[in-house]
Amino acid sequence: MAPSVAETATTVTDEISRGVSKLQLKAETKSSDDVPISYPLYYPYFDVEEKFPPTEIFEFTDPGTRADPKKPNLLSEGTSVKQLSPYIGAEVSGVQISKLSKEGLDELALLAAERKVVVFHDQDFKDLSPERQIEIARHFGPIQRHPTSGNVKGFPEFHVVYRDAHHNRFEEYRGANRANKTSWHSDVSYEKQTPGTTLFWILDQPDIGGDTLFASQVEAYNRLSPEFKKRLEGLRAVHSAVPQADASRRRGGPVRREPVETEHPLVRVHPATGEKALYINQGFTKYIVGFKDEESEYLLKFLFDHIAKGADFQIRASYHPGTVVVWDNRVTVHSATNDFEKVVRRHAVRLTPQAEVPIPATA
Ligand SMILES: [Fe+2]
Repeated sequence: MAPSVAETATTVTDEISRGVSKLQLKAETKSSDDVPISYPLYYPYFDVEEKFPPTEIFEFTDPGTRADPKKPNLLSEGTSVKQLSPYIGAEVSGVQISKLSKEGLDELALLAAERKVVVFHDQDFKDLSPERQIEIARHFGPIQRHPTSGNVKGFPEFHVVYRDAHHNRFEEYRGANRANKTSWHSDVSYEKQTPGTTLFWILDQPDIGGDTLFASQVEAYNRLSPEFKKRLEGLRAVHSAVPQADASRRRGGPVRREPVETEHPLVRVHPATGEKALYINQGFTKYIVGFKDEESEYLLKFLFDHIAKGADFQIRASYHPGTVVVWDNRVTVHSATNDFEKVVRRHAVRLTPQAEVPIPATA
């Protein structure tokens, strides 16, 4: 039987820096066994018999392209925007996403493209019906149905992120023998029409930890020299769904759609802002088309390191239940931080609208 109070592995230094005494931490860190799940409807659902057809190409116009750049329907009187860092991130207060008009949602798409990540706390979004949540997200594009992750029975549009005392997806996927658990990626970048404006909201969250790291792929690109940028533009890289599907099969999970491998430009252009962004990520990008193996490995390793080390174009977004974070998957990569007590529950849901076929940058 799991203990009712967690044994913590937190060091004294960590505790002092957080201003939390060890005794307090032990008392407050309840096992997920003791705390009822707040939103059982969204408990991850895996049906190995569930199958989806191959994804088909669709017409797409980015909602941000029709937005008023001044954003009067999103940022009216009584709202405020706090920049989280110079290159990436904004926190908006005084807005309920659930109340936005179509014009307001267009402006949100534009703000997410400009700031890359927009955080809204204290939202009623988590308490809307699943149908209404899907309706709002569909404003940004048709919603991707994930081939392997937990979804919601009857609602395959939801991608459920769930960890508790008995389930640790990170360790199942990446292995338990890793020195650090940072895992930079852009969601499902193997799709032909990759995700754009993405919504993620928190149902249960540990008091400390469980943040998300985000990096700007626009600024990662901007930091490179003109000569190096010229070399990258025109290159294409292959993004693969195969390792994710294989991992799901190994643990007896579903593979709802046969995995695809898709070529994308290494540098893409955002349709609403015109900004160029690196479009590679450690999670799904496998090799550069036309390069020898060693050349591809060498260049990708440099770019992955460049992005991962770019603390001066990253943010760390912190959440609590009710937070909704909206990010643009075309111009960012992100990583979960699996830094919280193993016994604590974290539960979040993502809706992942797909956008245009990536627009290649030209030198
Ligand atoms: Fe992700």
